[in-house]
Amino acid sequence: ISAALKASAAPAVADIAHRGASAYAPENTVAAFELAARQRADMFELDVQETADHRLVLMHDTTLARTTDVERVFPGRAPWRVGDFTLAEIRRLDAGSWFSVDYRDEPVPTLGEVLDAMADKAPGLLLEVKEPRLYPGVEARVADELRDHPSWLSPGRLVVQSFDGNSMRTFHRLMPEVPIGLLGAPPIADLPKLAEYADLINPPYGGLTRDYVRRVHSHGMGVLTWTVNDTAVARRLVSYGVDGVITNRPDAMRQVVSR
Ligand code: G3P
Ligand code: CA
Repeated sequence: ISAALKASAAPAVADIAHRGASAYAPENTVAAFELAARQRADMFELDVQETADHRLVLMHDTTLARTTDVERVFPGRAPWRVGDFTLAEIRRLDAGSWFSVDYRDEPVPTLGEVLDAMADKAPGLLLEVKEPRLYPGVEARVADELRDHPSWLSPGRLVVQSFDGNSMRTFHRLMPEVPIGLLGAPPIADLPKLAEYADLINPPYGGLTRDYVRRVHSHGMGVLTWTVNDTAVARRLVSYGVDGVITNRPDAMRQVVSR
């Protein structure tokens, strides 16, 4: 992937579990991350946001409504934005039952809990800072949490990514040793400037071409593409030279990517 990841003998193409093994377990929960590890994913991906009391929690949407029972527990608090709730309040929520009764009472985890829980279980982490403009200062809080869990800072274990390039520039200044991913497909003309701080360009797979992958590589960056759940599509993308596929089905992708 990046020079750092390659230096750690990472596989040629990384199998990356999107929000955990989210086809089979509720996204962004420890259950989904542990299942990804059991399915031999090379990395797991997660989405970090911030509570009203400035704690880092894992949630994809900017509201709690889709993946928890917040509407039942706090009926008067629409639209149930993550940043309007304290961690203690979010702790009362069930983030598993929406997916399956088998996961009833699975909690919304903090970033720190996941860094602890997965430290000896998962090889790598792809950490997305979600909607950072909603959470001024979130980059420094993520950096502090990572410094409190230094095993994740070993070469090749961690990539921090966002759709927000300004946020990633800020994060790069705080932790220049951590590889940075930019989500999206920026114009080829922008790649030289982005390569000043980014190590990876992480585009959606639709519309991705062999030539685009080659251009990103020619600027010294890698490509992780999302969200690829079909093995035939994954094979085509691997033939383009991508460095990782981000998937809800890490077990299926294991059959496609090398290790
Ligand atoms: O890691 C890629 C992917 O997570 C970006 O999109 O919306 O699933 O966070 P999204
Ligand atoms: Ca994400």
